[in-house]
Amino acid sequence: MSIVIAVDGTAASGKGTLAKRLAQHFGFAHLDSGALYRLTALAVLEAKGDTQNEADAVRGAQTIDFNRAGDPAIRTDIVGKAASHVAAIPAVRQALLDFQQDFLARPPGGSPGAVMDGRDIGTVICPGATAKLYVDAAPEIRARRRWNELKSMGIRRAEQDVLNEINARDAADKSRPVSPLKQALDADLLDTSDLGIDAAFAAALALVFPKVDGALKDRHRG
Ligand code: C5P
Repeated sequence: MSIVIAVDGTAASGKGTLAKRLAQHFGFAHLDSGALYRLTALAVLEAKGDTQNEADAVRGAQTIDFNRAGDPAIRTDIVGKAASHVAAIPAVRQALLDFQQDFLARPPGGSPGAVMDGRDIGTVICPGATAKLYVDAAPEIRARRRWNELKSMGIRRAEQDVLNEINARDAADKSRPVSPLKQALDADLLDTSDLGIDAAFAAALALVFPKVDGALKDRHRG
């Protein structure tokens, strides 16, 4: 069994940055599972398909090119919203399940562990994860951070529109019947509303360290 840190949370909560930094800290592999849904949505949009149509969306999931995970084209708000559409289709989630579970079972590069961020990692993909975080922040604060991020990329948006989109995406992710976003019973809540990124990382590390360190020591003993 590899060591797994599951990082779930709301849109623009900072979970991706925290997951990446936790992976660096422990020397673990990292997967942003949201990229899989974004790549699926992009594949459907590029094929001129309908992101709410099951056959189109499943075809998209089956043809994703993971080499494009770093493509800025998947980071737009349009693709984020479309990702939320394809993510609500059970057959799409099923099509992406093996990839995620294989990644956790055999992290690339022979790493002893993996960090995965998303919406259902601690609840569905890996309920037995070594450590689980649920990252959240007040919607207005998440919208401000996202607005600033967009501004630094030269994209000017009304802050209220960004807030509306974040609220709409959270509502869709929390209310869908399959794999809804929710805090796992055994996940630690990390509210980053009043924390800068360094303080949020320190808090995340303090929460997961005892569990991960214990698991690493067990592996050395075993
Ligand atoms: O995290 P990110 O904003 O990149 O995710 C985009 C969308 O993909 C989310 O709004 C959600 O609908 C979906 N998603 C999901 N399950 C995951 C990761 C992302 O449903 N594990």
